Amino acid sequence: MKELARLADVLNKANQDYHRLDAPKLSDSEYDALKRRNREIEIRFPELKRADSASDQVGAAPSEGFSKVKHAQPMLSLGNAFEDAEVHEFTERVAKFLGLSEADISFTAEPKIDGLSLSLRYEQGKLVQAATRGDGAVGENVTANARNIASVPQQLVGAPEVLEVRGEVYMSHADFAALNELQEANGDKPFANPRNAAAGSLRQLDASITAKRPLEFFAYAWGELSEPLAGTQDEAIKRLKSLGFVTNPLTRLCAGAEALIAQYRLIEAQRATLAYDIDGVVYKVNDLALQERLGFRATTPRWATAHKFPAELAWTWLEAIDIQVGRTGALSPVARLTPVTVGGVVVSNATLHNENYISGFDNKGAEIRGGKDIRVGDWVQVYRAGDVIPKIADVDVTKRPAEASKYEFPDVCPECGSAAVREVGDAVHRCTGGLICPAQAVEKLKHFVSRKAFDIDGLGAKQIEMFFTDEGLGIREPADIFTLKTRDSAQMTKLKNREGWGARSADKLFDAIDDKRRIGFARLLFALGIRHVGEQASKLIAGHFVTWTRFVAAMEQACDETSEAWAELLNIDGVGEVMARSLVLAFKQEHERESIERLVVELEVQDAEQASSDSPVAGKTLVFTGTLEKMTRAEAKARAESLGAKVAGSVSAKTDLLIAGPGAGSKAKKAADLGVETIDEDGWINLVSGL
Ligand code: IVH
Repeated sequence: MKELARLADVLNKANQDYHRLDAPKLSDSEYDALKRRNREIEIRFPELKRADSASDQVGAAPSEGFSKVKHAQPMLSLGNAFEDAEVHEFTERVAKFLGLSEADISFTAEPKIDGLSLSLRYEQGKLVQAATRGDGAVGENVTANARNIASVPQQLVGAPEVLEVRGEVYMSHADFAALNELQEANGDKPFANPRNAAAGSLRQLDASITAKRPLEFFAYAWGELSEPLAGTQDEAIKRLKSLGFVTNPLTRLCAGAEALIAQYRLIEAQRATLAYDIDGVVYKVNDLALQERLGFRATTPRWATAHKFPAELAWTWLEAIDIQVGRTGALSPVARLTPVTVGGVVVSNATLHNENYISGFDNKGAEIRGGKDIRVGDWVQVYRAGDVIPKIADVDVTKRPAEASKYEFPDVCPECGSAAVREVGDAVHRCTGGLICPAQAVEKLKHFVSRKAFDIDGLGAKQIEMFFTDEGLGIREPADIFTLKTRDSAQMTKLKNREGWGARSADKLFDAIDDKRRIGFARLLFALGIRHVGEQASKLIAGHFVTWTRFVAAMEQACDETSEAWAELLNIDGVGEVMARSLVLAFKQEHERESIERLVVELEVQDAEQASSDSPVAGKTLVFTGTLEKMTRAEAKARAESLGAKVAGSVSAKTDLLIAGPGAGSKAKKAADLGVETIDEDGWINLVSGL
């Protein structure tokens, strides 16, 4: 009761500071944590709930996440034009509204950046606030995050006393690709496109994450101003540039509709070579006095419009269907197309997914493309959704050559000639060749050296491709990596004499390989790339068997599904029949087993830590959220797992405990909603210390 009274007092004061005095003393996360604690106590002791409980106050408190910012001037969107005729209509409309002749009005034309808009408020030259657009009237306060964007100046010299600069936050193609690689390597979901990546990066509750994301900013407009920037749009943008903002170099002054359209074509032609995504060209009346007179409709200015690029679709011929073989033997059909420009990018391949997809059905047997199948020789419509692999949208069967026959999915692997089978319930054909299949072998090797597996410095996918086909120093299976140095010493043509290698880089590689001879059981198991056996499962299995030797012996016995070893394998929490069969198979197939044996003799496999069963978190599912101050997230996760807990990425009804550090957001809220027990970092340390 005392605690509830104290919380009521603190929360009340915090509300006052926030709303009336506009000077919050608590951070949002501190406030949220107090409120959460208040609610938790109330849930446990409902009879003690106070009449003035903060839990019942709606709207008074800042919502979780970012605080809200009311824009001094609304952030609006733009009207659209798609056809050239609509550009003429725009310029005519503007002229008519002003009662001027079209010849008297000039416009700027500039790329429409596909990112998210941001408003930056400077007072006395200092950046004081950054806000997202939100609903146009109220946005989110992302000041701390925006301070981490290199092209957002912190301090301006010679700027108006109050200056709100507006523009677009975006991520370049190169940075997007690198970020997604990192996401995937970390087991995180990749972003669908640079726009999502930019938005996801800017809207991080933890500004230190934003700091690690390479965001950029183009300034193209303004909000509140204490004095005008210039007399025209064009000059105002130049002024912003002189103040230190990055402005788009493709901005041009144009005399009328025809000139705007010409600039549109020019920008469209450059689209594919730009380092960032654009989705159209924005036209703005140049004279700011005219802009003022034109004003706004409900949500869009009369003085500007966006001429959008057409949807990214194109028709072309399907010349051939090739089959690519992946690490687990999956056969992926790829359409080879007569190269065609789709949304400014030349496309010559498209994914065809699997046999069903080619025949005109999805995986549930429902028709796609009206049930039309895809044949070699077909005239097909290709589309590009964001940056993903192009797909086939449609087939024009009226253009189908008479000799085109239904595509027959191969029943042998095109790489090794082994049977390719499609199991019941599986949409995918798989090569049964295992490691004798060169395509599977090379993909498996790439996985073997990847970051969460052996992670060997200087030995990535590119080097694997090179070594795989090397005559004298070939790497065709994992063991070959560890015999590379000895084989090199015995060779006439040494690695250091090969193109791209020198004595130093060769020695560095050998050292990096030696460094990884000592390897943990779980990492080794994951590195083998056995189908269905991912990183998490590898840890569980290693935690169960502890030693590699015991594990291998158990796999040999588990071939017999009536054996105790089989039952033991299935008994491991997180191991189902499908995974168990896949594991057993890997050790049953002679090729694969021998290859593993050749590898293991080169290594020193470290025992896994015994999964503890008597810790308070054994068998529990934990989620960490917010910032941990006393240990890294990786360390906390490893500790939890060594105590027999499972660590999940998101809160669900299956979560047993949430450990929430400062800055915890939606996960903490969800946990509270689901009644999941939540503790802070100190609580966590208390819980696990001494274990
Ligand atoms: S001007 C009042 N210029 O497009 C008009 N907007 O569809 C202010 N955008 O919300 C916007 N590039 O996020 C303008 N060069 C550009 C732009 C641009 C991208 C975005 C902006 C806006 C949206 C409207």
